[in-house]
Amino acid sequence: MTPSLPESPILRPTAPLIDPFQRPIQYLRVSVTDRCDFRCTYCMAEHMTFLPKKELLTLEELDRLCSAFIGLGVEKLRVTGGEPLVRKGIMTFFEAMSRHLESGALRELTLTTNGSQLAKFAQPLADVGVKRINVSLDTLDDAKFATITRWGRLPQVLTGIEAARAAGLRVKINVVALKGFNEDELFPIVDWCAAEGHDLTFIEVMPMGDMSEEARLDQYWPLKDLRARLAERFTLTDLAERTGGPARYVRLEETGQKIGFITPLTHNFCESCNRVRLTCTGELYMCLGQEDMADLRAPLRASSDDAVVQDAIRAAITRKPKGHDFDYSRQKVAGQMSRHMSHTGG
Ligand code: GTP
Ligand code: 5AD
Ligand code: SF4
Repeated sequence: MTPSLPESPILRPTAPLIDPFQRPIQYLRVSVTDRCDFRCTYCMAEHMTFLPKKELLTLEELDRLCSAFIGLGVEKLRVTGGEPLVRKGIMTFFEAMSRHLESGALRELTLTTNGSQLAKFAQPLADVGVKRINVSLDTLDDAKFATITRWGRLPQVLTGIEAARAAGLRVKINVVALKGFNEDELFPIVDWCAAEGHDLTFIEVMPMGDMSEEARLDQYWPLKDLRARLAERFTLTDLAERTGGPARYVRLEETGQKIGFITPLTHNFCESCNRVRLTCTGELYMCLGQEDMADLRAPLRASSDDAVVQDAIRAAITRKPKGHDFDYSRQKVAGQMSRHMSHTGG
């Protein structure tokens, strides 16, 4: 039994969250830790300085904040990190959030994980109402996996994914498309996902963290090229269906499988952005690709009245920018963020 959190009441929305570009904000990504048991090269530096534990929001504070967002109309909650499953006591938080599934306020409670801890957590996650999870996996080759994640081991992740399936969770594999790294695995990965019954999404690598311009441009594999290669072997049909995330999906007619493309570089999707990101210290980033953020920890700690927090959330949403400025054209990296991806959980 995991200890339970005292319940923060849900305040009924007076008005939903609408940003200055008339986009309704219904998707909250919450990073519950900046720590990770891997060190993926495109995500973290090898020697990261992590936040002191006392800087973190407690699980109770995370509950209050997320519940405040849900009270303002957020329907989709994705738990991220770092690696969310390394946060101590994380199941207590999931259990607490499941009450919003039960009440019908939340439509989806889910997470994005590196898969390393799933053998332990898949069943408990399914038990609290998680239906579908996203697992980051860029290669099916042991040696390449160890290279890209620096600290990760592929068999552990595959065992975790198997546990997820056994627990009845639907799995979507997230693959960052990396030139010269997993180009040669395009078809093996597609075939493996078909055989295992996993959905699959490819992601264009974004300029986050402190990688050199040259290295970033070298690894960029535009998804329009990847898509063209897929079309050499399969018939691709565009699908209208959406998950609430930024991916656009196609069906491979020959296998019936669904493949997603997340294309911040080749096809900007900011126009339909519906999400904001909360960090484990209570910073709210209104855009993944901009520096501006709002501190929600101060209002949270200043008052036990959740209306104060909700006012701070509303004020932050009025500052949501139009979109990111990532751009690799003209052989230059524009819009680079010095912040690591692990800070905001992608
Ligand atoms: P689904 O619910 O399955 O659609 O998940 P999702 O795509 O919303 O979440 P996931 O954590 O799997 O994210 C996949 C990738 O999309 C990550 O690399 C994120 O950084 C990227 N991503 C998500 N939202 C945004 C966004 O607003 N802007 C940009 N540029 N990338 C995003
Ligand atoms: N560009 C694109 N995707 C990234 N991710 C981490 N760093 C980057 C980056 N620089 C992905 C992870 C994970 C998701 C949350 O973000 O692979 O699937
Ligand atoms: Fe950890 Fe995910 Fe970043 Fe890899 S991409 S270092 S698994 S947070």
